[in-house]
Amino acid sequence: MLPKLDQLIVEFDKGVRTLLAPAHSRRPHPDQDIPDCELSDAERKHAARLMRINHCGEVCAQALYQGQALTARDPANQHAFTEAAFEEIEHLAWTERRIHELGGRTSLLNPLWYTGSLAIGITAGLLGDKWNLGFLSETEQQVARHLEEHLQKLPEQDQKSQAILAQMKTDELHHAEQADEHGAAPLPAPVKALMKLSSKVMTRSSYWL
Ligand SMILES: [Fe+2]
Ligand SMILES: [Fe+2]
Repeated sequence: MLPKLDQLIVEFDKGVRTLLAPAHSRRPHPDQDIPDCELSDAERKHAARLMRINHCGEVCAQALYQGQALTARDPANQHAFTEAAFEEIEHLAWTERRIHELGGRTSLLNPLWYTGSLAIGITAGLLGDKWNLGFLSETEQQVARHLEEHLQKLPEQDQKSQAILAQMKTDELHHAEQADEHGAAPLPAPVKALMKLSSKVMTRSSYWL
């Protein structure tokens, strides 16, 4: 189902806000009660870059959920993911604040990844709800695995970043389950492989840029 003009305007507005305005969290930030720690310059830079990758992933998540909302045929599916999309905004807020605390900056490539993810989300949506949901489920599962890798890579004493990623991982796995419950189709292996490849390009480039 092609999106209507009013939906496009609402989603365009969300996109501009994702890229330009600071995100806000309804839940408390997962690291709010954890004191900051001593990090060497190299550790701080490394942690900020890892969190930049995660922030970039959340920018992509915004675009994917927007693509889902624009193209879902079943209104129940359109509404089911409002909460998940809201949690993705919270993930943006948590990672953004932590990047700044670590003295880093968000990725210069965010507009590029946002646009690409929106195009992918809309394309998946146009193929039908079960493929759209299948794509969301696979994305969330890949993101959860990637967050687990980053939990291992972060400096051990950076408990603040770790608390953020641990809560994000819990949320992403819940989003994947939700997509499965709403009828996600398992994706063909070559599509999963292509998704892994593009996420590798995204993670490598946003570590540096
Ligand atoms: Fe997320
Ligand atoms: Fe998610």
